[in-house]
Amino acid sequence: MAQKRITVAIDGHSSCGKSTMAKALAKRIGYAYIDTGAMYRAVTLYCLEKGMIDGDKVNKPRLRRHMPKIEISFKVNEEGKSDTWLNGKNVEKEIRGMEVSNKVSLVSAIGFVRKAMVEQQQAMGRNKGIVMDGRDIGTVVFPDAELKIFITATPEVRAERRYKELQSKGDTTTTFEEVLANVLERDRIDTTRKESPLRQADDALLLDNSNLTIEQQDEWLYKEFLMRVKS
Ligand code: DC
Repeated sequence: MAQKRITVAIDGHSSCGKSTMAKALAKRIGYAYIDTGAMYRAVTLYCLEKGMIDGDKVNKPRLRRHMPKIEISFKVNEEGKSDTWLNGKNVEKEIRGMEVSNKVSLVSAIGFVRKAMVEQQQAMGRNKGIVMDGRDIGTVVFPDAELKIFITATPEVRAERRYKELQSKGDTTTTFEEVLANVLERDRIDTTRKESPLRQADDALLLDNSNLTIEQQDEWLYKEFLMRVKS
């Protein structure tokens, strides 16, 4: 008998390695992987390109009018990785830059933006067989997901991981204290915003990966997955 196809929802704090874990599982089980953070990042890039953000203010009436014109999709590149496309252009690199990172929490806090993204995400997962990561996947996007994970790690561990990543990319100016302050600030914004604040769904499994290797957490997640598709 064919295994049943399920929905896997992965939420959690920033810099926890959510996407690493989600991507690895999707690849292993042959499911599609959707990075919902990339969608909020793409909308933010669109706003920046159209001059809709001034300081910490987003021109909401203008953005609302433009929403139907914003088309986001994912395409697998020749390395087998999924790239984010915005209105026919590959924007994978641009959406990971500091300019977008600094403004994305403003845009992802807007109710009508969230509504449009959630509708697209639900359409992408209509046939199940999907691993989706974000902040509100188990609570808002797929409250009926068969497997829900909420990942966390201590702020210090997350800051350390990001600090090392920055250093490996040649950033010698950012200090550990600055990275830690940024992690704490992002947690504050994500958990206290009015629209869909980050919280663990009641039926989500909590994974604190502070002391786990990537291999250990991948194995743990795969076992949880197998338990759900076999039952
Ligand atoms: O996971 P990330 O850092 O790429 O997410 C970018 C931003 O989008 C971050 O500020 C949180 C927000 N986000 C969200 O509000 N809801 C989601 N489902 C995914 C991301």
